[in-house]
Amino acid sequence: MGAVIAGTGMFVPDNVVSNHDLARIMDTTDEWITNRTGVKERRFVDPGVGSSDLAIAAVTNALADAGVEGSGVDALITATMTPDYLAPGIAGLVQAGLGLSHIAAFDVRQQCSGFLYGLDLADALIHSDRAETVAVVGAEVHAGFQPWSAASWEVLLGNSQEPLPQQDYERNTEHRAWSVLFGDGAGAMILRRGERSDEGILATSLHTDGESFELIWVPGVGFKSRPYVSQDDLADDLQLPTMDGGGLFRKAVRLMPEAARMVLERTGMTLDDVDLVVAHQANDRILEGVRKQFGLEPEKVPSNIGSYGNTTAGTLPILYHELSASGRVVPGSVVCFAAFGAGAHYGAALYREPAAS
Ligand code: ACO
Repeated sequence: MGAVIAGTGMFVPDNVVSNHDLARIMDTTDEWITNRTGVKERRFVDPGVGSSDLAIAAVTNALADAGVEGSGVDALITATMTPDYLAPGIAGLVQAGLGLSHIAAFDVRQQCSGFLYGLDLADALIHSDRAETVAVVGAEVHAGFQPWSAASWEVLLGNSQEPLPQQDYERNTEHRAWSVLFGDGAGAMILRRGERSDEGILATSLHTDGESFELIWVPGVGFKSRPYVSQDDLADDLQLPTMDGGGLFRKAVRLMPEAARMVLERTGMTLDDVDLVVAHQANDRILEGVRKQFGLEPEKVPSNIGSYGNTTAGTLPILYHELSASGRVVPGSVVCFAAFGAGAHYGAALYREPAAS
């Protein structure tokens, strides 16, 4: 029996940063960002708030939605590329913050595909009788890896009308190609054993193209370097992401549909059977490419990137939660999840919402 989604939840911080706000701290425009990415605004946490805090809030909401007590959770999977600390990951912090018992709790590090990998692992744990109820959460705090100075943040959040020092403006502009894409947020699902073989998670197909590791990565602050962080590294901005935007775009548009076709083939289903494609929200133009490849109308490949930007491991569960809450997912709906991101990890999962009981 495939695992079914018993409840969903999300949490995003209150601070909203629009494209117009970004245009005050770097050489960019709302028009450029909207046309190239679809992002209109994104959320950012206050200093001192970590991805574990967002994850705790999202899982709490998902548990309430599922009508499940924390004591009923057998395993917790946390997907993030922005942990509170370099080590350990956030799973322990989330387990303790939720007051869960000493269950298995672990991080997956598959970035934009992290939630998809978590979903597959939850399904496998349930299938193999190692767990009955699994919480999976994708949570990210990208605010910390933005290259923006304290003065830039004050302008962004509307706390200062002072002109930005020229060197801050230039540095922000230097990193504008990737910094405008990201936002903070978390989404969670509670997975439970289903009752029928034709419901729940029907098939998954996970892949890794390690040769594309450098499409988007953080070259510094890693244990291959000695010391793992140095003033020279920081002076060279090696703690910041490096991105080949065009290369990512081409691979994502090709490989997400490829993985989706594999799960359809495995189940003997076709695109006509699919009600919704819930694809990683990296960029509206990537989603447009996916729609074109599949010949699907926009409503079938929905987007909420305009409101949140790319929340990496958070995008799939946040979008699914919103679709579910707004009645777009109904009993019997067939949903194809697809993701592509750093690593390069990618894949797809096919899911059928259980019939109403
Ligand atoms: N504002 C204004 N101008 C900008 C900005 C910005 N924020 N960023 C770049 N530019 C400029 C560039 O400097 C360049 O100027 P030039 O022609 O004078 O040199 C011009 O715009 C075009 O730059 P390109 O990089 O060629 O722009 P492109 O059309 O390729 O769009 C983008 C860039 C949006 C990043 C695109 O490549 C893309 O969508 N890539 C996918 C990347 C992605 O989604 N990453 C998310 C993380 S990974 C993941 O989740 C899968």
